[in-house]
Amino acid sequence: MTRSKRIRKAVFPVAGLGTRFLPATKAIPKEMLTVVDRPVIQHVVNEAREAGIEHFVFVTGRGKACIEDHFDHQVELEATLSAKKKTRELDELLAELPEAGRTSFTRQQAPRGLGHAVWCARDIVGDEPFALLLPDMLHHGARPCLAELIEAYERTGGNVIAVSPVPEDQTHQYGIVGVEDTAAKVSRITSMVEKPPKGTAPSNLHVTGRYVLEPEIFPLLAKQEAGAGGEIQLTDAMIALSRESRHPFHAVRFDGTIYDCGSKIGFLLANVAYGLARDDLGPQLRAALKDLI
Ligand code: G1P
Repeated sequence: MTRSKRIRKAVFPVAGLGTRFLPATKAIPKEMLTVVDRPVIQHVVNEAREAGIEHFVFVTGRGKACIEDHFDHQVELEATLSAKKKTRELDELLAELPEAGRTSFTRQQAPRGLGHAVWCARDIVGDEPFALLLPDMLHHGARPCLAELIEAYERTGGNVIAVSPVPEDQTHQYGIVGVEDTAAKVSRITSMVEKPPKGTAPSNLHVTGRYVLEPEIFPLLAKQEAGAGGEIQLTDAMIALSRESRHPFHAVRFDGTIYDCGSKIGFLLANVAYGLARDDLGPQLRAALKDLI
């Protein structure tokens, strides 16, 4: 049986503790903090849906139950909105809700790193290529970043990763890739390294948190030892997979703006940028910011 090549499923690792946002994240998952009027995770799920994803796989952990509630009907609220004829609000809620049977939740039982979180989704993903979206990273651009990856994947096959340039003094904070042609929108990846020590990065192209991966990544994650930071690293398994010529890796350069909502500055900037981009809020917010500054 030939396996499906279509990217139907997306994995969202949402088990992280969010210690950088304490005390806000004491009782609320960091993924539920809002950028304008939606939780960060809703923005990322919307990106996946707009790219054609049909099934949403969440790798959660303790204290993350409200993420599951968020992606379910809230029957009393919907009845109240309907009785009050608040149809716009109701339509918006329902439009962003995944269809019944199109979400899966599994738990990462111990914080052992991103590679381990992705491995926890192996049974739900099965033997088909899948998308992976890191919810901290909001990608703001003319087109959904994941849609660009899937389009590239349809031409190249194999594995596809979104990249974008960062200042040299930040390369040690991310996964960094070397590519055949740094000017091209899509280029073959020639090297990958997770959080290279300062001065050793193969380029300034960082891995932005959007991936299309082949299921052959799972057995490699399974046998992996802890890497950088004592955690099971996705990047190490990708390096191992890329050594097999049947599984090439391509980079797609994302031309929009990326907000790292895992950092306070990135999170604050995301709120401003997403607010400014809204027809109903942008003009008023722009004027208010001018006054403030
Ligand atoms: C992870 C990945 C890294 C990537 C980054 C993007 O790191 O391991 O390759 O560049 O996400 O946010 P983390 O942020 O989990 O340390």
